[in-house]
Amino acid sequence: MGEWPGPKSRELEKERERYLPRGMSSTMPVFAASGAGATLTDVDGNPYIDFATGISVMNVGHSHPRVVEAITKQALRLVHSGAPVMMPEAYVRLARRLCEITPGAFAKKALLLNSGAEAIENAIKVVRQATGRPAVISFHNSFHGRTLMSMTLTGKVSPYRQNFGPWAPEIYQVPYPYEYRRPAGMSAESLGGACVEAVRQLFKTTVSADRVAGILVEPVQGEGGFVVPPPDFLPGLRKLCTEYQIPLIADEVQTGFGRTGTMFAVEHSSTEPDLIVLAKSLGGGLPLGAVVGRSELMDATNPGGLGGTFGGNPVACAAALAVIDVLLDERLPARATRLGERALARMRGWMERFPIIGEVRGVGAMIAMELVTDRASREPASARTNEVLHFCHAHGLVLLKAGLYDNVIRLLFPLVIAEQELDRGLDILEEALSSVSA
Ligand SMILES: Cc1ncc(COP(=O)(O)O)c(C=O)c1O
Repeated sequence: MGEWPGPKSRELEKERERYLPRGMSSTMPVFAASGAGATLTDVDGNPYIDFATGISVMNVGHSHPRVVEAITKQALRLVHSGAPVMMPEAYVRLARRLCEITPGAFAKKALLLNSGAEAIENAIKVVRQATGRPAVISFHNSFHGRTLMSMTLTGKVSPYRQNFGPWAPEIYQVPYPYEYRRPAGMSAESLGGACVEAVRQLFKTTVSADRVAGILVEPVQGEGGFVVPPPDFLPGLRKLCTEYQIPLIADEVQTGFGRTGTMFAVEHSSTEPDLIVLAKSLGGGLPLGAVVGRSELMDATNPGGLGGTFGGNPVACAAALAVIDVLLDERLPARATRLGERALARMRGWMERFPIIGEVRGVGAMIAMELVTDRASREPASARTNEVLHFCHAHGLVLLKAGLYDNVIRLLFPLVIAEQELDRGLDILEEALSSVSA
């Protein structure tokens, strides 16, 4: 790569500073021009291996021919009719497909929206309507979106909640089982159970169970730093929800569509949520979210109570139907497992050479490493994390951080990435770690 950022990106950066609010920031200082498979190219023609997939959106890769064809065909036929006016055919077809492929051996229905946050909002509307109860429980270190309700449910202050209050009422948060940062003296084995117990405690101290409309949980925390809960956590939560007849809502916005090695992450623990919230990779790059769940919950709202102008747009639905076919036909969830194992093994091998790596963790192709200044104290190495990212960006790798302390490097490569591309991306990351460790 020559001068970086290139001249066109530098020019656009000036325009951006002039015309965009500061709050709308980007990780990379360059501007995207095109994408194909696992490669993104910026406006100056610089190529990058994409380990971010637009935050877990392009699981099937950039411009997958089958997705592009589906989008094109649909756009030539119908771009918008408005689901509340004359529902497009593709809406119904996709709703059926989502009901078929999501876990849960019971009758389901699906509602389509435009984003993850909007889908979260609607999941809360559905469970409040169905239960007649006001309260919702979510977890520390979670991320559910940037609208008022989804932001209130989010368990990280800076930057998502900072100065954006007052918050929506009746939201309560409890700890998520974060093994690497568990309370001193607590064993890893008891952590999952302790976090379920914290919900029971909340029922005693703060809000009684019969006031709770739903418990919202990420099966693996995404923005929180790819925190994989212990195996007993989700089943424990499921059991508690069944006991108190509280709907369990799984936020699979980041974990869904093959990312973790199964179509949906709850499948790893055979947990059947009552509602599943979807977005990101669902639309193959077009804005689309969904709430899929038990028919009796989804049907509680009167006609007109759910929906919106754009939700279930036919072009986005056509893309989603193609995405689902591609994931299944190309067996991408299984590929996620294989690629993830390859990356995990290599990254675990780095731990001997780079003391800055505190932990390498992940499931399927949702892999991360937490950087620390010292392995004993586990003090987050947030500044060094930025240095690693900067090195990677400047050397042709799109990479993101995450975590409560912004010290987690997360890998979200497309599930179609070739092994050599994956290895080349990991080479760059390894060079970055060498450079900041020198
Ligand atoms: C787990 C989870 N839920 C919800 C959202 C919000 O999705 P969106 O940005 O489409 O509103 C995100 C986005 O990162 C997410 O990771």
